[in-house]
This record gives sequence, structure tokens and C-alpha cells, in this order.
Amino acid sequence: MLEKMSDFFENRLVGYDQHMMTEIESSTEFYPFTAKMLPMAENSRILDLGCGTGLELEEYFLLCPTAKITGIDLSKGMLSALKKKFTDKDITLIFGSYFDVPFDENVFDAAVSVESLHHFTKEEKIPLYSKLHSALKDGGYFILTDYFAFSDEEEQMHRKNLIALKTEQCITDDAFYHYDTPLTVKHEAEALLEAGFSSVTVLNHWGATYTIKAVK
Ligand SMILES: C[S@@+](CC[C@H](N)C(=O)[O-])C[C@H]1O[C@@H](n2cnc3c(N)ncnc32)[C@H](O)[C@@H]1O
Repeated sequence: MLEKMSDFFENRLVGYDQHMMTEIESSTEFYPFTAKMLPMAENSRILDLGCGTGLELEEYFLLCPTAKITGIDLSKGMLSALKKKFTDKDITLIFGSYFDVPFDENVFDAAVSVESLHHFTKEEKIPLYSKLHSALKDGGYFILTDYFAFSDEEEQMHRKNLIALKTEQCITDDAFYHYDTPLTVKHEAEALLEAGFSSVTVLNHWGATYTIKAVK
């Protein structure tokens, strides 16, 4: 059965960190790598889309303890867990969907998102990326670590499966449901470029999980 996105993560909060670090292939490599790609200057301002319990932030604070983080997530439980981990850090948490929450303009040195954006279409992402582009300072950048479809056929198959499941379960509302529908790296790059980013580069990959850098 499909679950609403927020319910899905709320229901899997217990044991979430352990699951990510032991069951998700190469997570012990891609979290530190992602953190290393973020700015190292003191007091860097970073926006985290779908911050969850802050696994990427654990690695980042080791490198940049003075970073000022704004984290957005639609699971209250994940945000509470994050807050408990980093009591001495400069973190602003926003409960809501990054599609709906307004972002301040020209304020962030960089943005990051790990394992959160593989549920959405290119059409849904373009306005989000455009809002993100405006939120970054000149020269700012976005580091996206997520998993991707290997081919157009795989991308289309996931999307068709989701539509079939929604039809089967008589789901007609517009809410987001948890079902993985990764884009290809090519389509992700197109969404970022169409949103106004000047360049998109693949920095690394571990199987289907890629780290991509999009520069304002
Ligand atoms: C697999 S978790 C990843 C969390 C964290 N970045 C990590 O790597 O551990 C995906 C997170 O994205 C959040 N999420 C999904 N869609 C979202 C949306 N539209 N707005 C805000 N958060 C969202 C979920 O609530 C969940 O906490």
C-alpha cells in the first residue's frame, strides 16, 4: 500500500539511521563525500532539502562546526531526532514541504539534499530548483546526492508503476506518496539547467547513487 510521504518517514523513524548506514549501499562513503563538497569557510550558510535526521550534517559539522544550517523536512519526527543530535549547533528547522516553503533570496552559500528528491518528476522539480537558484548567493551551489535511473525506460517504468498503484488504490488527491521514481542523471541535469543553474557536473558515483554539483 502506498503511504503519504510524511507518514512513511514518520513510521520508519525508529532505526532509521542504522538502516541508512548499514542497508544502503555505499552510504559510509557518500555521506562523507557529500559533506566534503560543501563550503568550508566559517559560518557558511547551508540549506538542506529533506534533512531528515541530519546524517549528512553529522559529517559536515565535523568539517565545518560553525556552519549555519536551515533544514526543511515534512516529517516532524525526523526533525525532532535531528534537533536532539545537534543541541550546540546553529540550526533553523522548518517543518513543511520544500515545494511550498518560501526561501529567502541570495542568502545561502550552498544547498544540499541527500536521498530525498528521487520521488518527484522533472516538471515538479523545475520550479523548486528555480526557487533554490534564487536562494543561493552569487557563486553559490547545490550538492545533490541521490539515486538515479539508469535509463529512460527505467525512469518511465517507475512512474508508470506509481500511477498504476494510485489508480489501484483509488488515490486521487495531489499529496505526495512515498514511491521511488528516480530520474536519469540527464533529466535531473536538464531540470537544474532549465531552472537557471549555469553548470551541472557529476562529482562522483557509487552504482546508481550520484553526487551532482549545480552552480548558480
Ligand atoms: C530518505 S530520507 C533522507 C534524509 C536525510 N537527508 C538523509 O540522507 O538521511 C528523505 C527525507 O526527505 C523528506 N522529504 C520528502 N519529500 C519532502 C518534501 N516535499 N519536503 C520536505 N521534505 C521531504 C522526508 O520526510 C525524509 O525525511
